[in-house]
Amino acid sequence: RAMRKFIVGNWKMNGTSADLAEIEAIAAMATSYAASVDSALCIPATLIDRATSRLLEYTLGGQDCHMQVSGAHTGCVSAEMLADAGAALTLVGHSERRAGQNETDADIRGKAQAAQNAGLKVIICVGETLEERDAGQALEIVLGQVQKSVPDEAGSDWLSIAYEPVWAIGTGRIPEDSDVAEMHWAIREQLVARFGPDGKNISILYGGSMNGDNAPMLLAIPNVDGGLIGGASLTATKFEPILAAA
Ligand code: G3H
Repeated sequence: RAMRKFIVGNWKMNGTSADLAEIEAIAAMATSYAASVDSALCIPATLIDRATSRLLEYTLGGQDCHMQVSGAHTGCVSAEMLADAGAALTLVGHSERRAGQNETDADIRGKAQAAQNAGLKVIICVGETLEERDAGQALEIVLGQVQKSVPDEAGSDWLSIAYEPVWAIGTGRIPEDSDVAEMHWAIREQLVARFGPDGKNISILYGGSMNGDNAPMLLAIPNVDGGLIGGASLTATKFEPILAAA
């Protein structure tokens, strides 16, 4: 399997119009790696329209969407709205939303399907907490999330998975290589069992404290098809070494 790496930045709840210049700098930097690496940046929904009007060639995404197309859901943003603003993809099911907004696997499956219906590519995030890993339940928890949050209609043309151990996010701690390899292999096996040969082509990204120093090691692990990067995606300077490693 020779799959192009997919490197995705996630700005989380950071960024105002003052940061459009940095988004532009990231897009210009990433475009210079486009011959060999796919990349995208998931920015606050409020910036997507202005950012995409400047950056037609670079893939920008949202960080969440509602599962309905429209309706009485005050404060929510639909997938169609993200697409209309210029997004080409969205994250769904980030652990910060699973924990902070009580999102369930069924919610996430609905959001992923809504995003696909709106023409967006989708990255479904999964990952175990430290308590779950310490209790020896990491594989069971993560495979259960993949099973329940990935829609039956999934295909490699629109879906990627991001494995993000919750305890590795924003902490500077990363799992052992062997633990990453074991988890990505188990996710791959499940995708192939469920979707047949196309399951081999669904990108499985690793996320959690990835940076320019550890990216070469993490991206060399079998079945690690890319990365989902938070803190180290906030500037072109920090993000570039990860693209260079991919
Ligand atoms: O979506 C990105 C992840 O939550 C990783 O964040 O790179 O700041 O640890 P981090």
